[in-house]
Amino acid sequence: MIADEIEKLKSEIWQEFENIDSLSELNNFRIKYIGKKGVITSYLKKLKDLTLEEKKRLGKELNQLKADIETRLKQKEKEILFKEEDKEVGLDLTLPGRRVFLGAIHPLSQIIDELCAIFSRLGFEIVTGPEIETEYYNFTALNIPDWHPARDMQATFYLKNGAILRTHTSPMQIRTMLERVPPLRIIAPGKVYRCDADVRHSPMFHQIEGLMVDREVSFSDLKGILTYFAKETFGEKTKVRFRPSYFPFTEPSVEMDIGCVICNSKGCRVCSYTGWLEILGAGMVHPEVFKAVNYDTEIWQGFAFGLGIERIAMIKYGIDDIRLFFENHLYFLESFK
Ligand code: DAH
Repeated sequence: MIADEIEKLKSEIWQEFENIDSLSELNNFRIKYIGKKGVITSYLKKLKDLTLEEKKRLGKELNQLKADIETRLKQKEKEILFKEEDKEVGLDLTLPGRRVFLGAIHPLSQIIDELCAIFSRLGFEIVTGPEIETEYYNFTALNIPDWHPARDMQATFYLKNGAILRTHTSPMQIRTMLERVPPLRIIAPGKVYRCDADVRHSPMFHQIEGLMVDREVSFSDLKGILTYFAKETFGEKTKVRFRPSYFPFTEPSVEMDIGCVICNSKGCRVCSYTGWLEILGAGMVHPEVFKAVNYDTEIWQGFAFGLGIERIAMIKYGIDDIRLFFENHLYFLESFK
């Protein structure tokens, strides 16, 4: 009976199929069973002598078998190709996996982003400008004439043709005011340079400059905004105080301290046993600065501030050596994930 033969054929086929192990074996198998002159074709031919009903049933069965063989051969072919590839590259599945190194945002970038977000909430816009400056923007327009002792306080890197590396971000006050009409609120984060290097000073470091100019800006606005900034950055319970100070480009000038977050204002090595940490300089924009940018001092008032990012980061994270930020040791950077 042909039906029995087909059943037997099926089991032979799948048994043989299991033993295929190479591409050439696979090809031979294909030709032998489903080729034009293959076994299944010859069986299909044999059906012509059967009854119509048997023809239908067995014809369907043989065609299904052919289709099954085709799909499983394709699968098998892929498996064999993968195996051969593995042999070529010497894949060893017993080897331990490779360690994946995940990057993290640099702690200084994290602080810059955080501070920018705080001031953005207060309506300050973020601006940036050149690190190579002229003495005019860096000093003269900020009311620091060339005889002024403040020029020596910020040990300057001089470049060719009278250019300098900016010693602070304050020239961004001048650049912004020359470009725009008030009212304005800006902060300018960026790199600054001073010829100075020890555990607390780096020849390149980061500052954020702030400037607000409007018709009625008072010293209370300065205190309010900077107090809000300190509490957002160091925590709601942070104490602040303002001390009189001096900067050529502000009058009056102040420095803002926060209660020492390391010892909780009890007095420690970091705050020199005062209980306070200085975190920024600020003041009301000096009339001479407004004059340099042609702002009418009868109409416009403003306050400015400047702070060091590294200092904020060192206080916030309890880091006592500024050089750690720039040596890029993985164990250091990975602790800020
Ligand atoms: N530019 C000053 C510095 O680098 C910091 C500073 C103080 C900026 C007072 C200001 C300010 O805008 O009002 O030491």
